Amino acid sequence: MFRSINTWCFAALTVLFLAGTFSAQAQGDALFKAKCATCHQPHKNGTGPKLFEVRKKWSDGGAAEGSIYQWVNNWQAAAGADPYAQSVSTWSPTAMTAFPELKKEEIDAIFDWVDAQPDPATLVAEGGAGAGGAAGATEEEEGSSTWVWVMLGLVFAIVVAAVSGVRRQLKSAVVDADSKDEQSYGQELRSWAWHNKSYIGFFGLIFVVAMLVMGLQGLGEIGILEAYQPSQPIEFPHDIHTGVNGIDCKYCHNSVTKSRTAGIPTVNVCMNCHKQVSGRTPEQEEKIKAVYEAAGWNPEGAGSYTGKTKPITWNKVHVLPDHVYFNHSQHVVVGGLDCKQCHGDMTKQKETARVVPVQELNKIDGNVTLSRPTLTMGWCIECHAEKEIHAGSLDGKKDGYYDEIHKRLLNNDRSLYSKYLEDGKITVKELGGWECAKCHY
Ligand code: HEC
Ligand code: HEC
Ligand code: HEC
Ligand code: HEC
Ligand code: HEC
Ligand code: HEC
Repeated sequence: MFRSINTWCFAALTVLFLAGTFSAQAQGDALFKAKCATCHQPHKNGTGPKLFEVRKKWSDGGAAEGSIYQWVNNWQAAAGADPYAQSVSTWSPTAMTAFPELKKEEIDAIFDWVDAQPDPATLVAEGGAGAGGAAGATEEEEGSSTWVWVMLGLVFAIVVAAVSGVRRQLKSAVVDADSKDEQSYGQELRSWAWHNKSYIGFFGLIFVVAMLVMGLQGLGEIGILEAYQPSQPIEFPHDIHTGVNGIDCKYCHNSVTKSRTAGIPTVNVCMNCHKQVSGRTPEQEEKIKAVYEAAGWNPEGAGSYTGKTKPITWNKVHVLPDHVYFNHSQHVVVGGLDCKQCHGDMTKQKETARVVPVQELNKIDGNVTLSRPTLTMGWCIECHAEKEIHAGSLDGKKDGYYDEIHKRLLNNDRSLYSKYLEDGKITVKELGGWECAKCHY
């Protein structure tokens, strides 16, 4: 009896420990993808260096204790305090984003996840070697989480089997004494399970709940960029430029009506005004000085270009995966959508740009109300299912484009057309806005 209680405690602890480990893994995975993956990969250098076993690299390299966490929070501060961090900061001319919001445990979760990633190069090599390949492949990317479930299930099964083994031995001693017929292992296990159904139920429940929690965490967090706001090399405020000074979005994002991308202005666009506007307060002057450094402008006297420019590397705020096709002009010109619908009211944005959570977007007058997190696939297709395309105009646009579509639908298939109109509107979805190939390469 005592032994079996011990075993059960052990089983429970194992399950809880694994649950803890794997939810930390899921957190590291999600954080890495949301914050670091634009520049870093585990095993390959990109904009930033590969991060595999980077903690070891730093401690081997003689970095100060804790310096690597300070680096992630604010690399400039770390480079100022630790010579090792200073040497890393010259790796490339691109500056890393600062992440003051990340706690030490979260940074460790990221590094733990990175260190657990198998090197694709060795996987390919093993795959080529033959039989081992299949096992290697299951460990890759999305396979890794399935792998976790299989492991967890196995551990549970082993524990159950081990416990039943102990019980069986004890019991068979008693049975021998009673000289009854030996029961088969299966019967034995079943009757054991029946007698211990409350235990089994209890631990089964823990197991199922742990799986559910982890599954939901995985689904809910990975790839979601809501409220993402990377730091920027220049503290460019949208409110002063678009609100107070009333500059049109297209003045700076000038390809938004013509192509799939909106574009980020070059420093020359800034200098159209900032040759004259150097700031009214010392604080403003300090911020605008960064613009001058980038442009190579010496504001002394009448002002002159020095020729020493320093390109500004703005960090991308809105990032869709490579397999997704999104087109601005389609939405802004053809669809007649306001920037506010997807980016919120930028004329009130005091700091640098961020991904606006859907709850905030919903509060803006004129926006379609949506429920899925901004920039997820759910968000795109929910709008496509909701957004109405008016005959004759969409949001005030009257160039006959939708008249033509309505006419064509009517002529092609009258009954389909009236089916579309059953709910009183034609949506983007009904025009093909839910076809995978429209959004995926
Ligand atoms: C905008 C791009 C960018 C993002 C986003 C970014 N990094 Fe970096 N990171 C860099 C660059 C570039 C370097 C190399 C240092 C340099 O040249 O300034 C670097 C260096 C590092 C280093 C030191 C690497 C080494 O080999 O010593 C660590 C650790 C690191 N980053 C962690 C992170 C983590 C963790 C995140 C996410 C929370 C992150 N970075 C997000 C660009 C980025
Ligand atoms: C004076 C130039 C200027 C004007 C005008 C301007 N922007 Fe920007 N915008 C920028 C710069 C510079 C950035 C990059 C810095 C940042 O991300 O905060 C940017 C970034 C953005 C981003 C995030 C880009 C990304 O990386 O995902 C969005 C969205 C955006 N602007 C929307 C707008 C909208 C909407 C308007 C009009 C209401 C507008 N902007 C007007 C200069 C401008
Ligand atoms: C239907 C939603 C939607 C509307 C409307 C919209 N955007 Fe975007 N915007 C996005 C998405 C999605 C991205 C990310 C695109 C990517 O990563 O390929 C983005 C990215 C951007 C960027 C970053 C640079 C780039 O081109 O990728 C800027 C700047 C921007 N938008 C400005 C604007 C402006 C200005 C308007 C209004 C004229 C506008 N957007 C209207 C969804 C929208
Ligand atoms: C159409 C003119 C115009 C353009 C273009 C322009 N600015 Fe400005 N900018 C202004 C004005 C006006 C101010 C406010 C100065 C004041 O209040 O006296 C300002 C203020 C600023 C400030 C100080 C903000 C603060 O917090 O006080 C920064 C930084 C800045 N601009 C950066 C940029 C950058 C970067 C670009 C190019 C992407 C740019 N500006 C393009 C007109 C412009
Ligand atoms: C706020 C609503 C809204 C959101 C959010 C939205 N769209 Fe759209 N989308 C529209 C409208 C309206 C149209 C119709 C334009 C037209 O008639 O071609 C459209 C059309 C499209 C089309 C062309 C469809 C066709 O039938 O030719 C594609 C592709 C597309 N969107 C991709 C995306 C992607 C990818 C996202 C998410 C990143 C997204 N959209 C988010 C409203 C939205
Ligand atoms: C209106 C645009 C749109 C349509 C239509 C669409 N997708 Fe997506 N899909 C997206 C976007 C945007 C993402 C990226 C979401 C993210 O990064 O969170 C995505 C991501 C995915 C992913 C990767 C999952 C992930 O979490 O990264 C798969 C798989 C996928 N889509 C399959 C499909 C299939 C199958 C269809 C057709 C039934 C489809 N998509 C139709 C926009 C669309």
